[in-house]
Amino acid sequence: MSKKLKLKKKFKRRIIAILLVFLLTLVGIIFYKTYKYHQTYEYKLLQVGYTKDQVGTLLEKLKEEKILLLIASEKKDYVLDIINAKYYLEKNYNTYLSFYEKNKDTSIDDVIARVNVGAIRDWYQDATFTDTSKGYSMLTNKFHLLPSDYKVDSIKTFSATYAYGTVSAEETVYNQFISMAKSAKADGVTLVLTSGYRTREKQEKTYNDMLKSRGQEYADAYAARVGASEHETGYALDIVSNGKYVYTTNFHESPAYEWLSKNAADYGFILRYPDGKEYLTGYAPESWHYRYVGVDLAKKIKSEGITFDEYYAYYLE
Ligand code: DAL
Ligand code: ZN
Repeated sequence: MSKKLKLKKKFKRRIIAILLVFLLTLVGIIFYKTYKYHQTYEYKLLQVGYTKDQVGTLLEKLKEEKILLLIASEKKDYVLDIINAKYYLEKNYNTYLSFYEKNKDTSIDDVIARVNVGAIRDWYQDATFTDTSKGYSMLTNKFHLLPSDYKVDSIKTFSATYAYGTVSAEETVYNQFISMAKSAKADGVTLVLTSGYRTREKQEKTYNDMLKSRGQEYADAYAARVGASEHETGYALDIVSNGKYVYTTNFHESPAYEWLSKNAADYGFILRYPDGKEYLTGYAPESWHYRYVGVDLAKKIKSEGITFDEYYAYYLE
């Protein structure tokens, strides 16, 4: 064999060897990459059955330990509905899931609302003291109680023009109600108060009187137990009107109620116990009970269309 031919053969063998090494490396890389991808949460979630979009949302919104639990169980579409809900709070994720799994006929929005405000346990159970430093945005309800030494800074008593009997309120609330009542008057609507600030003793008596006369279910639907009433803060007012509407019972049919529905937020007041929200507020609808939270907050709460309990849990707590 000529020297030239030998060299040619050697060269050919080298090329083949190089190509072989190259190919093997390529196959190796592909195998390794596939292996690595199969280890990712994205792949594992896709294997459970979630779509690519759903996987994106899950990975964006959930921490590792929650992803691992999803990988270990069958596909749950409601998880996506929960984490995409408007008032979703990550700290409540596990509670949303366990509550929904036991109450599948409850809508996701109701699950979120109930869990956020804590209304998945008995009223008053595991109640804590409320954060009184929040002032006009403080929450007082069946789970957020006032300390027994809570003091209202400045109390003012309304004249007979504005109240049936003796009614008082915290100073700003007092002033805001008077502005509101004057403006209602200019529209031909009369607003009159039947109740405002109550001492702890007065609140206790209000509840106990109702308990004696109407029984526990009724008392708990219409009156707060001691320490749980907004009336003890001086920020709540019970408003009625004149003529046919001097009592709370039919106040929801009055022009005054209609006027308040439109205008109360402009003076910083919200309807605190709306119809249909008993499961969140813990109270039967009270068309007469208004709570002062300040003008900005009242407008925001009104525009979101949620109860103060829900607003507080989501934005303020
Ligand atoms: N009527 C309301 C709930 C109260 O007693 O504070
Ligand atoms: Zn009231």
